[in-house]
Amino acid sequence: MGCFITFEGIEGCGKTTQIRLLAETLQRAGRQVTLTREPGGCPIADKIRAILLDAGNSSMTPLAELLLYAAARAQHISEVIVPALARGSIVLCDRFTDATVAYQGFGRNLDLSVINQLNLLAAGSCRPDITLLLDCPVETGLGRAIARIEATCASGSGKPLEERFERESRDFHDRVRAGYLSLAAAEPGRFVLIDGSSGINHTAESIYRAVADRIAC
Ligand code: TMP
Repeated sequence: MGCFITFEGIEGCGKTTQIRLLAETLQRAGRQVTLTREPGGCPIADKIRAILLDAGNSSMTPLAELLLYAAARAQHISEVIVPALARGSIVLCDRFTDATVAYQGFGRNLDLSVINQLNLLAAGSCRPDITLLLDCPVETGLGRAIARIEATCASGSGKPLEERFERESRDFHDRVRAGYLSLAAAEPGRFVLIDGSSGINHTAESIYRAVADRIAC
């Protein structure tokens, strides 16, 4: 069996850059790596992603949103994650079930016990071995995320479709960050807290050290 590693954090925490850097480092070390993300990771789940993150879908109810994340996850696990782990691959996944607890639970205030049941239904026994939580202040993360959106607009490639969450209130993002930190505190054996504001190279080294300490690299 392979090893399942998830990356989590608020908007603009730097996890997408860091997951790519870790994948490259592990591949250079001769490891088989599957890099994937949620929502998405396979054609059906990518279609659900487009619905979930479309800024035009502002009337989507929190419950509809929750169920769509679960549907995308069930497909992604069966089509991508479980087969990759069975091949012995290290699976690096950008967000997973903890994102649903943090965003739909803490952010949207949906019932945490319902979310936990739904996560269990969608993911079953597919649980991360290691979760890297990239933490940074909300203003730092949102500043980066908004700058990225503005750069996309300024480059002339049009208005980005995926900006539904970046436009949420400051309170919402504070709750999401607090949710992630409470998840990490509750499961210190699985979570590794990484400082996401310490510069790209320094953060990448911390992540590699944390992973190498836990798996034989
Ligand atoms: P990304 O920007 O990291 O690709 O993630 C897409 C957005 O989806 C991000 O704003 C967080 C949100 N999200 C949830 O709200 N719940 C979830 O379960 C997942 C996986 C993502």
